[in-house]
Amino acid sequence: MGKVYYVSKNVGLGLLVLAATALATIIALSIAYDKERAKNRDKPEDGTSDSTGMPTPPTTPFIPKEPWDHYRLPESLVPVSYNVTLWPRLEPNADGLYIFTGHSAVVFRCVKETDLIIIHSNKLNLTTFNGHHAKLSGLGGAAVPTIQKSFLIVKTEYLVLQLRSRLAVGTSYVLHTEFLGELADDLEGFYRSEYTDDGMKRVVATSQMQATYARKAFPCFDEPAMKAVFNITIIHNSATVALSNGRDIDSVIDGVPVRVTTFEPTERMSTYLLAFIVTDFVNIQSTQNSNLLVRIWARRKAINDRQGDYALNVTGPILQFYERYYNASYPLSKSDQIALPDFNAGAMENWGLVTYRETALLYDPIMSSTGNKERVTTVISHELAHMWFGNLVTLQWWNDLWLNEGFASYVEYLGADYAEPTWKIKDQILLYDVHKVFAVDALASSHPLSRREDEVNDPAQISEMFNTISYSKGAAVLRMLSEFLTEPVFAKGLSVSIENTPGMHLPDTVHNIMNHWTLQMGFPVVTIDTRTGSITQKHFLLDPESVVDRPSQFNYTWFVPVKWMKTGVEQQQYWLLQKTVSGEDWVLANINVSGYFRVNYDLDNWDRLLSLLNTDHQALSVINRAQIIDDTFNLARAKIIHTTLALRTTKYLSNEREYIPWESALRNLDYYILMFDRTEVYGALQAYLKKQIQPLFEYFKIITADWTRVPTGHTDQYNQINAVGMACSMGVEGCRELIQGWYRQWMKNPHPSPIHPNLKSTVYCAAIAFGGVEEWDFAWRMFKNATLASEASRLRSAMACTKVPWLLNRYLDYTLDPTKIRKQDATSTIQYIARNVVGMPLAWNFVRAKWSYIFQQYGKASFSFSNLIHAITRRFSSEFELQELKKFKEDNLHVGFGSATLALEQAIEKTTANIKWVTENKAQVLKWFTEEST
Ligand SMILES: *[C@@H]1O[C@H](CO)[C@@H](O)[C@H](O)[C@H]1NC(C)=O
Ligand SMILES: *[C@@H]1O[C@H](CO)[C@@H](O)[C@H](O)[C@H]1NC(C)=O
Ligand SMILES: *[C@@H]1O[C@H](CO)[C@@H](O)[C@H](O)[C@H]1NC(C)=O
Ligand SMILES: *[C@@H]1O[C@H](CO)[C@@H](O)[C@H](O)[C@H]1NC(C)=O
Ligand SMILES: *[C@@H]1O[C@H](CO)[C@@H](O)[C@H](O)[C@H]1NC(C)=O
Ligand SMILES: *[C@@H]1O[C@H](CO)[C@@H](O)[C@H](O)[C@H]1NC(C)=O
Repeated sequence: MGKVYYVSKNVGLGLLVLAATALATIIALSIAYDKERAKNRDKPEDGTSDSTGMPTPPTTPFIPKEPWDHYRLPESLVPVSYNVTLWPRLEPNADGLYIFTGHSAVVFRCVKETDLIIIHSNKLNLTTFNGHHAKLSGLGGAAVPTIQKSFLIVKTEYLVLQLRSRLAVGTSYVLHTEFLGELADDLEGFYRSEYTDDGMKRVVATSQMQATYARKAFPCFDEPAMKAVFNITIIHNSATVALSNGRDIDSVIDGVPVRVTTFEPTERMSTYLLAFIVTDFVNIQSTQNSNLLVRIWARRKAINDRQGDYALNVTGPILQFYERYYNASYPLSKSDQIALPDFNAGAMENWGLVTYRETALLYDPIMSSTGNKERVTTVISHELAHMWFGNLVTLQWWNDLWLNEGFASYVEYLGADYAEPTWKIKDQILLYDVHKVFAVDALASSHPLSRREDEVNDPAQISEMFNTISYSKGAAVLRMLSEFLTEPVFAKGLSVSIENTPGMHLPDTVHNIMNHWTLQMGFPVVTIDTRTGSITQKHFLLDPESVVDRPSQFNYTWFVPVKWMKTGVEQQQYWLLQKTVSGEDWVLANINVSGYFRVNYDLDNWDRLLSLLNTDHQALSVINRAQIIDDTFNLARAKIIHTTLALRTTKYLSNEREYIPWESALRNLDYYILMFDRTEVYGALQAYLKKQIQPLFEYFKIITADWTRVPTGHTDQYNQINAVGMACSMGVEGCRELIQGWYRQWMKNPHPSPIHPNLKSTVYCAAIAFGGVEEWDFAWRMFKNATLASEASRLRSAMACTKVPWLLNRYLDYTLDPTKIRKQDATSTIQYIARNVVGMPLAWNFVRAKWSYIFQQYGKASFSFSNLIHAITRRFSSEFELQELKKFKEDNLHVGFGSATLALEQAIEKTTANIKWVTENKAQVLKWFTEEST
């Protein structure tokens, strides 16, 4: 007990300096983890390592014999620098193929004697020299072994050269290759994106290297630790511009109409951060912040429509924020942001040339919603955070991805808050990361943040690391660390100095505290009994009967920093709370949910908290109001408390006007909707929610002067959307007419739209749900004609709202045709359809029927792929559906599930839990809603 340090509420952003050393803290942690892992590796009983320490993953019985059968490069050669020249052709060749050609010279040093050169190369046709796929020369007159044999290994994506004699340690050599590849529309490596402008098809050559696609652009040592300097040259048509990570230093006409653009040598960097683009895009730029050139690139029309202005407005300030936060100037000479019509992820932090989906960078002041604007701000903020953390300081291997993405996912809120201080955006981490990941991390099939290096080998395993645990739990755990260290210390500290900070009494070293959060999966529920004063912790599992078969060295216990208050007065923070907390007063723990855990209390205290909500909800912060709702609903799911206690937390909502608690409630009630919207419970549920949402609907009707304007507050704008959407689904009088009126008006006169951008998604979806083929076809026409990506995206989502089965089936078929739905959007469109109660069984049939096609197209590495499985199985709650799911798994074992493998296991687990939950709760839920709705 004794002294505890205090987190001042006034810790402002002004104190967020010195972050070069914050990196050091976190890197120190990660080094510690490496040691931890090394220890684990030595343990013989876990059976996952052989004596040489070479990777033999537990899931693959296959034991590699040859060095080229291993997914990891041998440690004998390290690259120093590359010359890479690429020439993409934006017109198809005689065979109708888009191609690129290129040549590369890589200087590498031999650090361990070997007669093998193994380098990544995938889907490249290599020119042969004297029958071999490459040429080898020496640097500085070194003797060069001759090549005996060269061959390609498709499975591990290698080019292998066997030499007649050994390379000498300490000597550098140069490997020359010449190659030809397809500039496919597959969104991987060097690929092509298309769009139309003035009715003309335009082709853009662009790239996505993370995680393992640089090898598809040129032969390279394609692992993050294999950093090198890259001298890039791009050959392109004179009418286009070529972009890469560095500034262009020379551009000469070399025979009409070809231009040769060379770029300054890059910093030493990882291959996954390279970017090459050839395009007819235009840019807007500013250099007002210091001498740094900041540019926003997009289609000419988008730039002319001023859709890049907002991004340009915020990029400079966010960069300045990070320079102060990291106490290090931006490492490069320019920062380009470019919006691409076809892009698989949301955005990619290529060093100096960040690529985005159009919806993540472009903002139209007239057509875009507040949500669109917030997305632009947070995505830019996330990617720019990586310019230091991730790009300058890079993790050794993909198993530590969580540090990279978790850190960026946490500080993106700080950067965005700096750019838009009135939005109170830092609170939203609760909804978008903490609560989101609690849901996943409460399953027995979850996994620790940190994985052992030898558990992550092939591209599908690497791709699987890009998941909610890495991003959101990473963010939540780092935020907790920052909160208990205090933000300035977090930003400053080497772990050594942290232990020595006067007045800071931690129960153990930072390293040991954090190991509990990173090396074991899950999180605790802290139970406070105000009658006895006892405080305990327990691993929180959503399904109490699920079996955790993953052992933890910490037995699923954590060092829990508990910030709490009593009758509105903040108390001293405890670690694992030994002191008694008793009496008549209400107690609330985990203030602002700064800790990554849930809280439960004795019933008396729950009653006190509920009555506080009903009488004076503003006595608690919005975050804690949301927490009470989210915790109780999840505790009830886990059978720790009664379901009706959770439902009771929604009663006060008729007085609630704030977004975060409402959003939290709606997300939790969404589970009830999903479980019951095909049952008799739905009528009573609808009647109750109608009663609860009505006052909010009326409130917005008044403050918007009968829907003629939008509220001024940032989150009020979001809550207005909730109010309208929910009121329409629950049948509040006046809502349907309001929506249909707007939509009909729009159908009659499409330009300009009478619907406010904030409300478009909701209005489109509801109007299409209420309507038929006429409303749908109109939306389709507007979708095909949309010049703003976020408008197209809302329409694409809204078209999935129709209740007409043949329209839904036709729409599913459209996802197979890239001229109708872009490949990047196919899986998310199927997900939208699955969200609809009528669409769900149709989408399920569709995915089962087309599994091998869908898998081939998207299965190998796409982030969205596991989301597809989640989306389709969300409603599954019957024994029959569980059997179908298991059969699907069996039937497709030969095809495989790629990056959705884990998602499928989770779906089976969740379905099992849903079945139990519905069986146990249906009767009382029906009773409660029936009683409360009258
Ligand atoms: C790339 O350029 C740097 C700087 O000019 C140079 O030191 C390096 O040798 C070049 N790399 C190759 C492969 O020639
Ligand atoms: C890389 O390109 C530069 C400039 O063209 C050239 O001087 C140098 O020799 C090249 N390096 C190698 C290893 O080919
Ligand atoms: C690469 O070579 C194979 C076999 O010759 C050929 O089928 C393929 O079309 C070539 N790739 C490209 C992009 O030309
Ligand atoms: C960008 O900033 C300028 C100057 O502050 C402002 O006038 C303009 O409205 C901003 N643009 C957007 C889209 O926010
Ligand atoms: C974990 O639990 C086991 C058995 O209950 C016990 O032997 C062991 O000491 C515990 N370890 C820790 C770190 O608490
Ligand atoms: C398509 O959009 C253009 C302007 O963006 C507009 O002039 C035209 O009328 C639209 N076509 C339809 C069918 O709405």
